[in-house]
Amino acid sequence: MPSKPCAKSWVSFTRLWLSIKLLRIQASPARSSTLPIYNQAVQPDQPTPIIQADDLTKIYRSGRIEVPAVRGVSFSINRGEFIAIVGPSGSGKSTLFYLLGGLTRATRGRVIIDGVDFATLDDGERTRLRKQRIGFVFQRFNLLPTLTAMGNIEIAHAISGQKQPLDLAYLDHLCEMLSIQGRLKHRPSELSGGEQQRVAIARALITRPAIVLADEPTGNLDTKNSDAVLNMLRRSNKELGQTILMITHNMEAAGVADRILQVRDGQIVSDTVNIRPEPVAASV
Ligand SMILES: Nc1ncnc2c1ncn2[C@@H]1O[C@H](COP(=O)(O)OP(=O)(O)OP(=O)(O)O)[C@@H](O)[C@H]1O
Ligand SMILES: [Mg+2]
Repeated sequence: MPSKPCAKSWVSFTRLWLSIKLLRIQASPARSSTLPIYNQAVQPDQPTPIIQADDLTKIYRSGRIEVPAVRGVSFSINRGEFIAIVGPSGSGKSTLFYLLGGLTRATRGRVIIDGVDFATLDDGERTRLRKQRIGFVFQRFNLLPTLTAMGNIEIAHAISGQKQPLDLAYLDHLCEMLSIQGRLKHRPSELSGGEQQRVAIARALITRPAIVLADEPTGNLDTKNSDAVLNMLRRSNKELGQTILMITHNMEAAGVADRILQVRDGQIVSDTVNIRPEPVAASV
């Protein structure tokens, strides 16, 4: 018996709807099960600045004594660049790190992150921008003393506001690369300086932030662990498109970067493109 016109059109409509659904599913990009990039904006074809410093100045004052730590520095870093900042002790590298990360206010000048001027944000907005966009590796690690190594890494994910659950496969991968698997239940006071440093690096990378600011990330490491950290940063930069700004006093470490800024007495004295950065090994 022939079907009624109404039933026929319902069948055609259902087929059409299913075809459109199927097309959409096929057209959506394949998802990587292990390496989703949570915080990374889509890489544009043209280089776009992600960090801009404009006449950046920081003068510390204690009583009547003034210490000009950063003196009128201007530069621009493009999305996806790997920058090394080198310079002697006391030249203002860490102060620059705090300024670029919005952790201290500039005495003069501006820091613009992804088009947003830190100075226009209130404290809450600045904190949110930092948590969502920037991973910090502090020179003195700044691990929370009451939490274990694992707790310190997990909390970075928890406060980042990401909806996705902690990527345990990526966590395992970071811990293996940084050789800290056997130390995850220890508190910072039970870890060596180098182990604390590597936990701090895992904490900075776990959220796959668009920007990684690392202050002397290899400062406490032996050659083997130092190479592992540099390789990790380089590969995160290449494969996840993260913008990395690494402070170091070690010219060999700086050799992995695409561009090297030299700081002296609070000023940038050279800005050089590294035409042959150290090669990168397998995938992250
Ligand atoms: N809170 C502060 N109050 C006063 N002076 C400070 C303060 N922090 C840093 N300074 C001074 O500012 C200058 C730059 O310090 P900064 O820590 O930025 O140097 P650095 O290049 O990171 O040195 P290092 O390689 O030893 O880590 C130094 O002369 C330092 O003594
Ligand atoms: Mg420093």
